[in-house]
This record gives sequence, C-alpha cells and structure tokens, in this order.
Amino acid sequence: MKPVLLVCFLLNLLIPTSTSRATPDHDDNSTSSTGTSIIFSTVGRLGYAFDIFSLPIQASNFHETKITDGRSFNFNGHFPSPSSSSSLLSLLRNQTLLQTVDRPESGPPPLQLVYVTERNGVSNIYYEEVYYDDTRTRKRSAIEVAQNRVQVPLLDLEGRQDRISMKDRPSLAGDYLVYVSTHEDAGVARRSWAAVYSTELKSGVTRRLTPYGVADLSPSISPSGKWTAAASYGERGWNGEVEELSTDIYVFLTRDGSRRVKVVEHGGWPCWGDETTLYFHRRGEDQWWSIYRAILPSHNPISSTDSVVIERVTPPGLHVFTPATSPGNKTLIAVATRRPTSEFRHIELFDLEKNEFKELTRIVSPQAHHYNPFISPDSTRVGYHRCRESSKGSPKFLLQNLPSPDPDISLFRFDGDFPVVSPAGDRLAYSNFENAYVVDLNSWNRRLVYDGLAFSTAWDPVRKGVIYTSAGQGFASVSSDVDIISIDVDDDDDQTRIKKLTNGKNNAFPSPSPDGKWIVFRSGRSGYKNLYIMDAVDGEKSGLRRLTNGPWSDTMPNWSPDGEWIAFPSDRANPGSGSFELYMIHPNGTGLRKVLQSGSGGRTNHPYFSPDGKRIVLTSDYAGISAEPISFPHHFQPYGEIFTIKLDGSDVTRFTHNPYEDGTPTWVSKHIKAVNVEWPEDRTVCNFQDCHWLANMPSDGIEAKTKVDVPNVAQCGGSF
Ligand SMILES: *[C@@H]1O[C@H](CO)[C@@H](O)[C@H](O)[C@H]1NC(C)=O
Ligand SMILES: *[C@@H]1O[C@H](CO)[C@@H](O)[C@H](O)[C@H]1NC(C)=O
Ligand SMILES: *[C@@H]1O[C@H](CO)[C@@H](O)[C@H](O)[C@H]1NC(C)=O
Ligand SMILES: *[C@@H]1O[C@H](CO)[C@@H](O)[C@H](O)[C@H]1NC(C)=O
Repeated sequence: MKPVLLVCFLLNLLIPTSTSRATPDHDDNSTSSTGTSIIFSTVGRLGYAFDIFSLPIQASNFHETKITDGRSFNFNGHFPSPSSSSSLLSLLRNQTLLQTVDRPESGPPPLQLVYVTERNGVSNIYYEEVYYDDTRTRKRSAIEVAQNRVQVPLLDLEGRQDRISMKDRPSLAGDYLVYVSTHEDAGVARRSWAAVYSTELKSGVTRRLTPYGVADLSPSISPSGKWTAAASYGERGWNGEVEELSTDIYVFLTRDGSRRVKVVEHGGWPCWGDETTLYFHRRGEDQWWSIYRAILPSHNPISSTDSVVIERVTPPGLHVFTPATSPGNKTLIAVATRRPTSEFRHIELFDLEKNEFKELTRIVSPQAHHYNPFISPDSTRVGYHRCRESSKGSPKFLLQNLPSPDPDISLFRFDGDFPVVSPAGDRLAYSNFENAYVVDLNSWNRRLVYDGLAFSTAWDPVRKGVIYTSAGQGFASVSSDVDIISIDVDDDDDQTRIKKLTNGKNNAFPSPSPDGKWIVFRSGRSGYKNLYIMDAVDGEKSGLRRLTNGPWSDTMPNWSPDGEWIAFPSDRANPGSGSFELYMIHPNGTGLRKVLQSGSGGRTNHPYFSPDGKRIVLTSDYAGISAEPISFPHHFQPYGEIFTIKLDGSDVTRFTHNPYEDGTPTWVSKHIKAVNVEWPEDRTVCNFQDCHWLANMPSDGIEAKTKVDVPNVAQCGGSF
C-alpha cells in the first residue's frame, strides 16, 4: 500500500466576501497596549474530546475504526453517497485543490465522511477520505489511520462574515451539501439564528433555505438530494424548552427552500428512509422518547399534515432517539438509546421487520456516551461520535481562543467558572462551585486558595492579592448558609488569610467599588434576594446599607469602573418566573433603569463592565436555542451565549455561537495573546455528563441508573 498524501486545501464553496480579518491564531502580539479580552466559561465543553468512529454492521467481532484525526472536537458525521463524493472530488480537482492523491493499489475503498469540527475554535464542515486496511489491523481494537487521509475544509471561512457562527448537522446527497449555520442575525430577541443552507456542488452557489423570521434545526437531505427536512418552531419561535423541543417537521426543496410544507406536528431529528418516508424522534404521551415514521403522499406537494401517515416504530421501556436510516437496507435503522439498565448512551441497530434491537457500542466501549449515529450508503457501517478518552494527544485547554467579532477584543473559553484577572493583570482567580483557585498568568501554575464550596470571584482593586468569593452552596434557597469571604492569597497564615464578611442568609456575588472601600452583594436576609452594600475590609459589622428592596430577586451585581453604576439582573418585572432582565442603579439608590430584556420570559445574567465602562458583557438567551439539546451532552441552559451591549442597551453584539451553556464572563483590561493555552499538567478529558433528564424513566418502578450529582438549576440563568 502506497502512502496517501495529506491534502489540506480550502474550497471556496460559499459566495466569497472581500472583507479580510486578522486571524487570531496568527497574531503574535501578546500584550498590545490597546485592546481588551473577554474570558467566559462553558459547562463541560473543554472536557469534550470527540472523534468520529465506526463499527461494521454485520460482523460478529467488533472492530471499531476511528475515522477523524484525534485533533480538536469532531462530531455529527455523515457518510455521503458515492455519487455526491465523486462530484465533490471532481469539483476539488477542477479547482486544482486536490492535486496528487496516491491512492492505495489494493485494499478496501476509502471511508468518505462529512462532519463538523471545532478546530482552531472555529466551527466548520470538513470532508475526510480515509484509507484503511482491515487486514493490517485486525488484531487491534481501534484502528489508527493516521496519515492515510485526505482532509478538506468544505467552507472557506477565512476572512468571512460567517466565520463566527455555529455549523451543524451536514449532509451531502445528489448535487448538494446541506447544513445549519447561525451567521445571520434573527433580528428579534430570543429568536434562534439557526438556519439551513444548501451549497450546490457543481456551481458552488450557496442559498439560505430557511425563510427569514424562522429558525430550522437538524436538517437532513433526501437520498436523491431533491428534498430537505428540518425541525422548526415555524413562526411561533422558541418558548424556553431545554429538554425535548416541541418543534414540527417541515420539508422543502434543497435547491432553493421553496415548496416548504409542515409534514409532522411535534418531532425532531428527521432523516429520510426514501423519498417519501421520514423517521424522527419525539417524546410520546407515555413520556418515552421513541422513533416514529411519517409516510408522505407520493405526489408532492403535500397539502396538509392530514395526508401524512404517522406510526410509532420503537417500543416503550427505553428511550430511543436521533434515528439514522440505512440507504442500502430499508429494514434497518440506527439509533441512540438510553436503557433503564445503563448509565450510558449507546448506539444500537433496530430491525424494522423483526422489531428487534441489536446492541453495538455497549459491546465495544460500555463506559462511554455515544452520539448521533449515521449509516454508510452500502449499509455495512454505522458511524457515531464519542470521547476519544483521556490520552496523550488530547491536551486540555485552560484557555481556548475563539474568533472574536471585534479585533480589539480577544475571546477565550476558560476551564472553570467565574474567571477574574487581577488589577495588575498577572493572575487569574476563579471558583467552580467546589473550590477557589488562583492561576499565575506567566507560568500557568495553579494554586488552591480556598478548600471549600465557593462560587463567584472578584479581586480587590486596591489591596494587592485580596480576592472575594461566596463560600457555600450555589443555587441555594434564600436562608441557606452562604457567606462572603475575603482571601489574602499571598498570606500563608491560615488564621489571618481568610475573613468572613457577612453573617446572614445567602450572601453572594461580591463586587467591590473601584476605590476598594465597599462591596455590593446580594443577600437573602429579608426573605428575598436583594442587593446590599457593606464595608470591604471589615464586612457588614462596620457598615451595611440596603440598595434594593422588594419581593423579588436582584442578583449578580457588578460595579462600574468609574464607580457611578451597579449593573444587575432582576426578575422584578415577573418575580419567580425565571425571567431575568438587566438593570442599572447608582450606588446611592437613585437612577434605576432597565438596560436589556431578552424577550418576555427571557434571561440576561452575569453582567460585567468593560474596562472603559462603556459596555457590558453578559450571558443571555437573546439568540434562542441553536440545536436540539438531545444531540449534545448535558447543558442546564443550552442557550446561554455571550453578548456585549452599550449602557443604553443598544448595539447588542453576539460573541459566541454554539449549542452549549456559556456563562460567567469577565472583561479584562489587557489584550491577552489570542492563542490557546493548555494546562501545564495532565488534565482529565471526557469528564462531561450526558443529558440529566434522560435518566428519567417514565414507568413506575423503573429506577434509572445515574451518576449525576449536580445542582439542578443552571449557571447561566437560574435565580442563584
Ligand atoms: C503586532 O506587532 C507588529 C510588529 O511587531 C505590528 O506590525 C502589528 O501591527 C501588531 N499588530 C497588532 C494587532 O497590534
Ligand atoms: C471539471 O472540469 C471538466 C473539464 O473542464 C468539466 O467537464 C467538468 O464538468 C468539471 N466538473 C465540475 C464538477 O465542475
Ligand atoms: C438488512 O438488515 C437486516 C437486519 O440486520 C439483515 O437481516 C438483512 O440481511 C439486511 N439486508 C441486506 C440486503 O443486507
Ligand atoms: C446619586 O448618585 C448619582 C451618581 O453619582 C448623582 O448624580 C446623584 O446626584 C446622587 N443623588 C443623591 C440624592 O445623592
């Protein structure tokens, strides 16, 4: 077998734009005098090390093949039809992007794959062609295919406006590549930006298929490429759901999105059995997630959902979801399951004639979650993604650099909650609901500074080495035992380094005034969570003043750098509803005003002022939900995205695009070099959790196995 050269060129499939932007990854200026940085946290994400794997369907012994290259986070694969792959390859060759590929003289044909990758912090769709030789590797459990691959990014995002967006669920059939992108602003608060696009392989022309004003999730292209199906809320928009979505399924022409029609009320994750059969999942009336089949009339267009026949396919007794069809074998579908007997999500086959499951991944890797199956065109292989396990070559990021919509602001995802940088810019403190730590920004060494439950962190602006945090359980009731403490992180004397500043009920979220004299915080001492101001050095015993007062929750205050304002989220417009809006108030209690509201019922949380005091960074559901939550690991609030706004609430700028929960942002006065930073020591990856709510088994007497032990309220919103 001759080696196959690694080919990695860009393909201009999308309409090119002329604007060119500096690439953060290649910016060598570590501390430019201008510019700032935003650092935030994302539930679980830095523990993901997903690769796409496949297993043969018929074999009696299971040889798992790793298809993707073990770099970054690779997921949501699709095996294209051979004819689409060859159009794609001839397009690449015509553009002289694929020059010489030495194909092996013998051995099985290559595996061809389209998938999503988040390498370099950018969400993109890649094509991969992998040459493997089963005979060579028969004795191994996982085949490493290393360099024997062709790898091509399908969307050339460099310098493009849609570089900063989420891409999801690509599929390739006939003459088209179909996928989701979030690069176009929905223009309305709490409306998702997710829309389906198709790129015609022959011409390279890309079109938006989703009407403006509507969002589409989880698209799937029909075997001929003529039709695309997607899950959508239609005109009515997202209503805040974070488990099962009450989306409907629409079908439209892949060519231009026309002839759009609703074919199924209530369903998600469609996939085509043939040109008139769709499989999809929904949580049925008996509360089990199951696969259903919709048979469309053979004479399109369809005039109403009445002409569509819907049947349940999988039985109750286990959750079955994210179906995939088998182009070469109509009696077979692949599914993900969560059985009452297992803590893990596994891929299984379901025989539609015999009504029988056949387990696949549990036999190969029982202790891992497996996601979103797909079947090869010849129905010999099933693909899926799972964590590649903690190993060398899977470094874990302490700071992951992401592309920023503002070249003056570098953007990072941090592996921990409530990151805050010291006034001198040399240290980062954080808390993670378990402990509090300080990280040296030159050596990246980490030190435990509080060995107890802690959340929310702030540096004293004047007294060097002093931080504040809330000691106790996060997400607790108004009367629980949580107190604000100060920690002198440079003091080695245990008697003096920690000082308790409050003595009441649920005191949390300290934010010091710029002169270091006062701390604003929220307290549940009145029976409601309202804001108070106390002496920063000696705490409430040396001075305490109530700032807000009412039967509602005010929380997460942040003091502006000029001392004039305190920004805070509040549910005062609708107490207890879970809806938080952003307000500002002067420290003397005057000037209260609302800054931002994310629709009715929306959430806007964790405000933090920019160093110049002119903007606020925050997390919000302002852009709705971008993917079906069941197709990803657990996120309490899978809609939290990072935004910045001006103090009058105008100029809302979206910084992150993903299906994860992004929260606890901080705005740092120095421009941190826009590169990834790895933990200096080995850190565990693959330690994320699967969707908690899948552990709920509806039938009486079935006790689901679960390892989950985490607060059930969210980080981004919640009233914590
Ligand atoms: C980085 O530094 C180089 C010179 O060292 C300078 O030409 C360039 O403009 C700087 N870029 C930024 C973004 O500051
Ligand atoms: C590639 O180029 C050849 C010759 O110019 C042409 O016949 C063929 O249609 C082209 N294929 C594609 C996919 O553009
Ligand atoms: C299709 O799948 C079923 C179930 O695994 C199997 O029994 C049957 O032989 C397959 N048919 C073909 C044509 O491969
Ligand atoms: C309250 O503070 C604001 C901002 O510092 C100031 O403009 C205003 O005059 C103050 N009002 C009172 C009554 O002190």
